[in-house]
Amino acid sequence: MHHQLSSGDVIADRRADYARMLEEGGEPDAAAELMEQALELVPAWAAGWYRLATYLEKAGRADAAIEAYRRTLAFDPDDIFGATLKLALLGDVATPDRPPSRYVERLFDDYADRFESALVEKLDYSVPQKLAALIASTGRRYDRAVDLGCGTGLLGPEIRGRVDRLEGFDLSQNMLVKAAEKQVYDCLAQADLSLAPDLSGLFADAARHRADLVTAADVLMYLGNLESVFAIIGELAASGADIAFSVEDAGDGEGFHLAPSLRYAHSESYVRALLAGHGLQILATVKSVIRKDGGKPVSGILFLTRKPA
Ligand SMILES: C[S@@+](CC[C@H](N)C(=O)[O-])C[C@H]1O[C@@H](n2cnc3c(N)ncnc32)[C@H](O)[C@@H]1O
Repeated sequence: MHHQLSSGDVIADRRADYARMLEEGGEPDAAAELMEQALELVPAWAAGWYRLATYLEKAGRADAAIEAYRRTLAFDPDDIFGATLKLALLGDVATPDRPPSRYVERLFDDYADRFESALVEKLDYSVPQKLAALIASTGRRYDRAVDLGCGTGLLGPEIRGRVDRLEGFDLSQNMLVKAAEKQVYDCLAQADLSLAPDLSGLFADAARHRADLVTAADVLMYLGNLESVFAIIGELAASGADIAFSVEDAGDGEGFHLAPSLRYAHSESYVRALLAGHGLQILATVKSVIRKDGGKPVSGILFLTRKPA
């Protein structure tokens, strides 16, 4: 399997490097042609097909891009490049219910070292502070908080003062390593929120219904259909627990959709119906700009909810 970004062939790599230069120089057609020549030498190179597809897309050749994304997927069935998401945006397949887990894991494993400088300093990411303010509005102290998709642990310091024990879970080991450096979490472990509760990793050594605070800051946009994560939250939350999370705002629509950013946006009505279905009360919602993307503000909705006692 050719997952690696290098093709393993010196000449193909050289062609691919030159193709990248052409693409960066604003010549995606020429870049695609050269990339095709590289792939003639290494036809099973998944990363190469993915790069070719992105060049073709930039060149406005959607049909050829679709074919190249399909090839990517054929040589990389785990879909670490997220070719399925690209195919969905190009209208070739239905929007998947959730992104491939291996794609999200690799995305954040790669991103971990520059996550905080990229998101906080350059993109005005503000969900942890805003979610913490919402949690503070309850005036409660919590025995045990579980931070789902804790990432590098930006929420931890914001809520630590009102929490006796703080657990963090994430799909990406590299993000967890960064969170551990902060020394704010009492326990950190890998978990996959897109799986059923028993398979997620959240209950491996720990009890069900153990949390009186559950948080998910800027995580649900990587999950699409939220049934799985709310099944987990249902198992995790004790009676009377507070649950605080953010979504990207899909606006007036009914359900959720995949945005060109490859993140999912959820409509308020979708989340409200989901919460009602899981018997959770809404204590507060806040609509707010949560980050920038491509220079434009991204609107989000923060929810503070409670599981009835
Ligand atoms: C944008 S980051 C936010 C991190 C942190 N909550 C914060 O506010 O800084 C999204 C995090 O969600 C995690 N994530 C995405 N999908 C996940 C899944 N299926 N299971 C567990 N974690 C997931 C990612 O690995 C990443 O660390």
